[in-house]
Amino acid sequence: MGLVAYEVEGKVAVVTVSNAPVNALSQAVRAGLSEAIERFQSDAEADIAVICGAGRLFLGGADITEFGKPPMSPGLPEVINQIEASTKPVVAAVHGAALGGGLEVAMGAHYRVALAGAKLGVPEVKLGILPGAGGTQRLPRLVGVETALSMITSGAPITAEAGVEAGLIDKLGVGGDARAAGVAYAQELLAGGAAVRPTGAIAPPEAVDFAAVQAKLKAKARGEVAASVAAEAVEAATRLPFAEGLAEERRLFMTLMDTPQRAGLIHAFFAERAVAKLPEIVGVAPRKFGHIGVIGGGTMGAGIATSAALAGLVVTLVEREQAAADTARDTITRNLNAGIKRGKLSEATRDAILSDKLVTTVGYEGLSQADLVIEAVFENMEVKKQVFAELDRVLPAGAILATNTSYLDVDEIAASTSRPADVIGLHFFSPAHIMKLLEVVVAGKTAPDVVATAFALGKRLGKTSVRAGVCDGFIGNRILAHYRTAADHMVLDGASPYQIDKALVEFGFAMGPYQVSDLAGLDIGYMTRQRKLADAHPRDRAPTFADALYHKGWLGQKTGHGYYIYDEGSRVGRKDPEVEEIVAQARADAGVTPRAFTDEEIVRRYMAAMVNEGARVLAEGIAQRPSDIDVVFLAGYGFPRWRGGPMQHGDAQGLESILADIREFAEQDDHYWKSAPLLEQLAREGRSFDSLNKS
Ligand code: 3HC
Ligand code: NAI
Repeated sequence: MGLVAYEVEGKVAVVTVSNAPVNALSQAVRAGLSEAIERFQSDAEADIAVICGAGRLFLGGADITEFGKPPMSPGLPEVINQIEASTKPVVAAVHGAALGGGLEVAMGAHYRVALAGAKLGVPEVKLGILPGAGGTQRLPRLVGVETALSMITSGAPITAEAGVEAGLIDKLGVGGDARAAGVAYAQELLAGGAAVRPTGAIAPPEAVDFAAVQAKLKAKARGEVAASVAAEAVEAATRLPFAEGLAEERRLFMTLMDTPQRAGLIHAFFAERAVAKLPEIVGVAPRKFGHIGVIGGGTMGAGIATSAALAGLVVTLVEREQAAADTARDTITRNLNAGIKRGKLSEATRDAILSDKLVTTVGYEGLSQADLVIEAVFENMEVKKQVFAELDRVLPAGAILATNTSYLDVDEIAASTSRPADVIGLHFFSPAHIMKLLEVVVAGKTAPDVVATAFALGKRLGKTSVRAGVCDGFIGNRILAHYRTAADHMVLDGASPYQIDKALVEFGFAMGPYQVSDLAGLDIGYMTRQRKLADAHPRDRAPTFADALYHKGWLGQKTGHGYYIYDEGSRVGRKDPEVEEIVAQARADAGVTPRAFTDEEIVRRYMAAMVNEGARVLAEGIAQRPSDIDVVFLAGYGFPRWRGGPMQHGDAQGLESILADIREFAEQDDHYWKSAPLLEQLAREGRSFDSLNKS
């Protein structure tokens, strides 16, 4: 029977799905399940059936690769209805995870046993859809509306133990064998004369205040629609008979299936899985990295050390003097304590880290056994080279020398050592123990097993690692510098920083560029501008208003004042009329007559700048594929996930239309607005960035 096996074991029909790696419910699996259930109906040898999954989990849900293609029969809802309509009882035996359509299959069965620790979830909203095979109707019938809404609108899974408590799971299985647990439970049910028990026959669940639920969801959705539509489907379960509820669920499911948000979120899903696929490390074993050294215990060093310690690695952090080493230790302790509050670790784990795993010290002697050292000292080439000379002197052969530099030339750092093949960039984002993104900066001479180690380390730290090449700012900060300039130009030409922030937050960004400046510190931007001053072109337009704020000592949140004013204890800023005056002065100094911008034009300019620089980064090989750029912006820059990332957004808009925008903007400023040759080529050939992901 192909992907679905049917065997009978002492009156129990065992139906096993084996579709590695996650038992996705592809057309062939659906057909196999349907056939198995049909066979069970007429099989006189079997009085009860158990559905289970082979491999590491029960069922991972619908086959996402089929989305956006013409539907193939049998549909999952039909198969699940067929299971529920079985005239003899059906048991689902869950291990590992039952997700999306997988949990919906389990809810279509009459009884459910799950092994301890198994995850039960309906993550559909994360893909821009809703549980569309009865989940919005059956889950509230089993667990009540409140729990169902929480699971369906967040997409977050619960454990089997919580599932038992909620009424989703009938029995917690013992041991590690789901099939055996399923068969044992089936026999127990047979002995007790258990009958069929269709979930759909349960009375409609009690309604809640759905208007309040919707208001709450919309307040935090930032434009994403799936959770709200999914809640509508749950509401239908409270007011419609089961069959009509299913029909309403299907109708809502199909509307979500047709949205660009669904396409964006599924693009993000596959982009995140493609990012670690690097031809250069296929079959290459990583080096060991159990003992990590960190040089510098400031903002980044302390965060990186926290991240490594949390992952169970041994960490030696080196500072310039004892007081700084002690401060770093205090910062790490605070980070760990905050982790305890968020439920990430126990007090015992913190104590073990601080006593056995973490050394904060002065001098490099403690690094003689280190496997991999990450330098996070001041952003200054001379200081970095001194540190790398020390590392070159003390580190054992085979150790990896990494830099967390934001902008500096990793090739130059590598060339200053006697072992350039062992040097790599590991660009963490602040706060390093929280932010998911890690840019792995591969220099010209970096050895493949050093790259493999960086990716293995990233995985161990729970990061999303993206390969980047060497250039000023790598992938993220390089593109950021470019679109940030477009925003500054709009301010110089008449848009207020507040309007720009508002327009981009409405577009879906977590924050606008001026809110980001306030968070990062206006000194960072100032230093970057100073560093690039020597290379400035006479036609570059300087954001003199930003320099003015810096000179006033308004450095953002850390000084309580930047583009916004932050009242005592508040991280949310309020507008400052004085900033508007400073901006007006900067315009007057530049001889600009200010004009009005619509929010729509702000977004168009910002996104065209982002996509255009993204195309250059691709053409230069700094990013391997367009989807890698998307992952950088999703994981590190607060880009709205439901838009899939900047390059996916470019595709969704149409590259012709982005190019037309750039040409239009170039009529006022042909120095800044130059279209990237790759963008022109793709537009000319009628191709998308996505065509490059696939090649
Ligand atoms: N369909 C198709 N392919 C899938 C898939 C799915 N549902 N889930 C995972 N895959 C693929 C991945 O793309 C990856 O492929 P690759 O090796 O070629 O890159 C491979 O399976 C392994 O996936 P992961 O790397 O993610 O493996 P993990 O072990 O880290 O995680 C998992 C396993 C938790 C199951 C995770 O893959 C996951 O979250 N999958 C998505 C689950 C999901 O969202 N299900 C709901 C689908 S929508 C639905 O059911 C609609 C219904 O209501 C009608
Ligand atoms: P920071 O100023 O907070 O910390 C630097 C630390 O390095 C200081 O504590 C200093 O005492 C120590 N140090 C300087 N020279 C040293 C030496 N020779 N030996 C040992 N310790 C020494 O700086 P921050 O922000 O942590 O930045 C560090 C690096 O990380 C820089 O290269 C920066 O560009 C990069 N980075 C910074 C990000 C940020 O958001 N702050 C984000 C990503 C990278």
